[in-house]
Amino acid sequence: MDLKLNNIYRIFRARLAGISISKGVQLERNVMFHLHSPFFEKPSAGKIQLMDEVKISTGTVIHSYGGAVNLGKETFIGPYVVIYGHGNVDIGKYCLISMHTCIVSSNHTIPGKDRLIKNEPDLALPVTIHDDVWIGANCTILGGVNIGKGAVIGAGSIVNIDIPEYAVAVGNPVRIIRYRD
Ligand SMILES: CC(C)(COP(=O)(O)OP(=O)(O)OC[C@H]1O[C@@H](n2cnc3c(N)ncnc32)[C@H](O)[C@@H]1OP(=O)(O)O)[C@@H](O)C(=O)NCCC(=O)NCCS
Repeated sequence: MDLKLNNIYRIFRARLAGISISKGVQLERNVMFHLHSPFFEKPSAGKIQLMDEVKISTGTVIHSYGGAVNLGKETFIGPYVVIYGHGNVDIGKYCLISMHTCIVSSNHTIPGKDRLIKNEPDLALPVTIHDDVWIGANCTILGGVNIGKGAVIGAGSIVNIDIPEYAVAVGNPVRIIRYRD
């Protein structure tokens, strides 16, 4: 099958699965969307929305876990990115999210030693990534973080604080090294 037909087929399947997809979206092979998980009794549902001309590369997993995941117009998602939507993930327009980045929007609460972590509820923590943000390869964006318009996050960074507009930030934990001119 040619590339165009493959894309039409992938979009058709994703729409059937309940994903909201605007025009011009491109999906590479093995992109996985989950609105429900077979691992849990309660359906998690939620919402996944891809705006115009979003491109998602191979191996990416987007799981709503009951929250909403929105990808803004012309945003590009590199290979093997994982996005979990428990507390909502809102990614703006014209963003680049590079390969192997993880975006999580929750924490497990950490109970006393007498209880299992896996039985504790998730704490939903929204993540917002504004327009024109570039996130380098292999970053982790933790729950509750707000990344301002035009910011750059260096490869391998762990982002656990808000990043101001047009900041360039790197490292673990992330620190601001400069601002875009
Ligand atoms: C952050 C980045 C954009 C460079 O920005 P820059 O402003 O040109 O930064 P510099 O190279 O001048 O480095 C400035 C400082 O930050 C450090 N630094 C740069 N990138 C870093 C990173 N990813 N992690 C940790 N430290 C980093 C440098 O070592 C230097 O430290 P020093 O001042 O103590 O010597 C680049 O290093 C980067 O991480 N690019 C991501 C590439 C990528 O993931 N591409 C994916 C495909 S699109």
